[in-house]
Amino acid sequence: MIQRQLHARRMPKALVGLCAVLSILTAGCGTMQSTVLHKATDAPPMEAEATQIEAAMPTEAPTETPMPPTDTSTPEPTATATPPPTATLAPTETPVLSPIDRMVAARDPEKGKVLFETFQEQAGSGYSCSNCHLPDSEKTNIGPGLLNIKQRAATRIEGLTAAEYIYESITNSMAYTVEGFEVDLMPQNWAEIYNDLEIFDIVAYLLTLEGESDIDDPEPVAEGAASDSD
Ligand code: HEC
Repeated sequence: MIQRQLHARRMPKALVGLCAVLSILTAGCGTMQSTVLHKATDAPPMEAEATQIEAAMPTEAPTETPMPPTDTSTPEPTATATPPPTATLAPTETPVLSPIDRMVAARDPEKGKVLFETFQEQAGSGYSCSNCHLPDSEKTNIGPGLLNIKQRAATRIEGLTAAEYIYESITNSMAYTVEGFEVDLMPQNWAEIYNDLEIFDIVAYLLTLEGESDIDDPEPVAEGAASDSD
């Protein structure tokens, strides 16, 4: 057994030795090896393919996407940033948006609607915004109706945009009190209940509440003038 193993081991050694001798004589082994190596590295097919794919790909993406006209025909839920087509001459060039305006424009009115309707135990004695505010009416229900709040909010405090005023009203309701309402009726801890992003969602939602007014003109001017006694 031992002898056979030794024999087996010796055999390859002898072959290697033979090859070495032969290669020196003919330089055959060396030549063959280098040929094979060369062939393997010569044409890297990966690179060639990549170049072809690249050539086939369009290098420039279409940059001009025609914007659909922001008409009234299609109800766009996220079109809070576009000025409403009102009769008032709004400046077409809006000044640089404030941080709050920009944040609100990027938020989700749908999410804001849900938060607006969510009951919060910690809010005062327990309220949702919708407990006190009608979203589809200008009529009072504990708090002022919020239909068309966008227009009113823009005029409440000079220097504040609609979004900024509404944000203030929610986070710091004492800062401004709507005429005819009690100062501290609205819960004052909304900023502890909702984080800023959630409040921006709510503001984005409130800015979408637009429609035909359902209250009489708050300034009844015609009343006195109508008494025509002759
Ligand atoms: C308990 C009732 C109550 C709840 C709940 C309540 N509010 Fe109010 N809110 C009021 C009252 C009353 C006023 C008017 C007095 C004032 O300005 O503080 C008001 C004022 C406002 C105004 C200003 C309206 C204007 O015409 O200028 C906004 C905006 C508003 N609330 C939004 C909210 C939002 C959003 C929530 C929920 C996060 C909320 N409110 C929850 C009672 C409430």
